[in-house]
Amino acid sequence: TWTTAAFVEESIREIRARVGDKRVLLALSGGVDSSTLAFLLHRAIGDNLTCMFIDQGFMRKYEPERLVKLFRDQFHIPVEYVNARDRFLEKLVGVTDPEEKRRHIGHEFIRVFEEESRRLGPFDYLAQGTLYPDVIESADSNVDPKTGERVAVKIKSHHNVGGLPEDLQFKLIEPLRKLFKDEVRNLGRSIGLPEEIVRRHPFPGPGLAIRILGEVTAERLKILRDADYIVRQEINRHGIYHDFWQAFAVLLPIRSVGVMGDQRTYAYPIVLRFVSSEDGMTADWSRVDYDFIELISNRIVNEVAGVNRVVYDVTSKPPGTIEWE
Ligand code: XMP
Repeated sequence: TWTTAAFVEESIREIRARVGDKRVLLALSGGVDSSTLAFLLHRAIGDNLTCMFIDQGFMRKYEPERLVKLFRDQFHIPVEYVNARDRFLEKLVGVTDPEEKRRHIGHEFIRVFEEESRRLGPFDYLAQGTLYPDVIESADSNVDPKTGERVAVKIKSHHNVGGLPEDLQFKLIEPLRKLFKDEVRNLGRSIGLPEEIVRRHPFPGPGLAIRILGEVTAERLKILRDADYIVRQEINRHGIYHDFWQAFAVLLPIRSVGVMGDQRTYAYPIVLRFVSSEDGMTADWSRVDYDFIELISNRIVNEVAGVNRVVYDVTSKPPGTIEWE
């Protein structure tokens, strides 16, 4: 539409005026905000933009590869892919408490971010996908009293942790700060982002790590990733992805007895968590067709080694939360 095109042109002008020939760093997350931001910045400043994608190892099956490929092949925006899978997993050895788990992941994210931005830098600006509601929330925080510019002392990642060291404090550039989420979605759509990014279900920063209760191990990650992939496949195949606020699988760190053929099994249960919601603050468990649940259950138990039982979560929020950790 005209307004979208006008917004793009206006943003590009603004970014150029502000940044000049300085370098900008952007951390891609795979969501619509950072993806749209990457597109705008790349149009505005080209090679002076560096997009970094930190793979913690907790994303859904094929998502990291797809993201990098989409940017490289379709948008011709190079992505610095940082494979940090092993180091995140190491940090989680023996960690079972949910808050402690989030803290470890958040801190590791900051450490990787620091190392990589030093390696790729120096950068003058950090681009963030701050939206209008976030601007209001943090009204006059972190404003440099001399220049009036907002300064990044923390990375606004979905982790909500982590102070940056003194020598790594960037000026912020936030081209989406006047937009609401729906406007970003429209913008994303108009620049050719695939619908799977534009209307992606919310996905927590710590990703699958908080959908494995208790200790996160490589074995459990593989099991959950495969089960989750089946859930997503079937939901897409039935054309009901957008009927849910979120629809995902959770792995419980316990085992129960089952039988397969004439063999006794002793394996993990998978929980299906399908909810509807307006804003994530409250949620209702989704009344899904029984045959549909059965289909998913059969596929998971038959195709994912290590799982012998599937259960359906019938708890709304409150009193339950959407995620299990
Ligand atoms: P809960 O589980 O609290 O989740 O009902 C509400 C919404 O927030 C998402 N969520 C997160 N998003 N980082 C995020 O970016 C996180 O650590 C996180 N934890 C929960 C959750 O998926 C739901 O949409």
